[in-house]
Amino acid sequence: MDDIKRMAAEKAVEMVRDGMKVGLGTGSTAYFAIEGIGRLVKEGYRLLAVPTSLASERQARELGIPLATLEETGTLDITIDGADEVNGDLDLIKGLGGALLREKIVAYSTRMQVIVVDDSKLVRELGTKVPLPVEVVRFSHGRTSMYMEDLGCRTELRGGDNPFVTDNGNFIYHLHFERGIRDPYELQSRLKQIPGVVETGLFLKMAEKVVVASLDGVRVMEKG
Ligand code: A5P
Repeated sequence: MDDIKRMAAEKAVEMVRDGMKVGLGTGSTAYFAIEGIGRLVKEGYRLLAVPTSLASERQARELGIPLATLEETGTLDITIDGADEVNGDLDLIKGLGGALLREKIVAYSTRMQVIVVDDSKLVRELGTKVPLPVEVVRFSHGRTSMYMEDLGCRTELRGGDNPFVTDNGNFIYHLHFERGIRDPYELQSRLKQIPGVVETGLFLKMAEKVVVASLDGVRVMEKG
């Protein structure tokens, strides 16, 4: 599986040019992309990178990749990140790695968002293979989850009795939709209306390209 993830990541790294400002994703596939970007820096590329998590920041530092904040870089040329599900419209579920908030902030400030996945992540309808992660503030989070359940899902606090805490100090709820998410746009807007919800793992109309690797090779899906 690692070989397949690396294939997808390497294909995306080919899109990085000298002088670019680059977003660094989070997760086991993005890990290989950061490795590749580190290699480009060693070859002499002048890149400036913004990481989407403390883990990616640590990896980038070890590889000597120059880091900056979005305030310093302005809009990024490219971000390479993973995903948990991808549908035919290139809409995504992200965040099972727990970094969705920073990932979305960075994606929003990126010209070309490139997603790297293996083909097991492709779905017809979002929410059919994995739950939707949603980052919520800790205060009254049980109450926030109740309002999320009113939207027709079952919620599960990530980590249970020992809750997972994000890089931003928040909790994550996983939302299980028995029959998948029929209208991700409607769901996104309804979730964002609930006080306490910080951000959701629905990345809609954000991906420019999705690099899909499988045992048969690599292909690139492009925004239609
Ligand atoms: C991190 O918060 C996520 O959005 C990841 O991008 C996603 O979970 C994909 O990770 P893998 O490449 O490890 O499957």
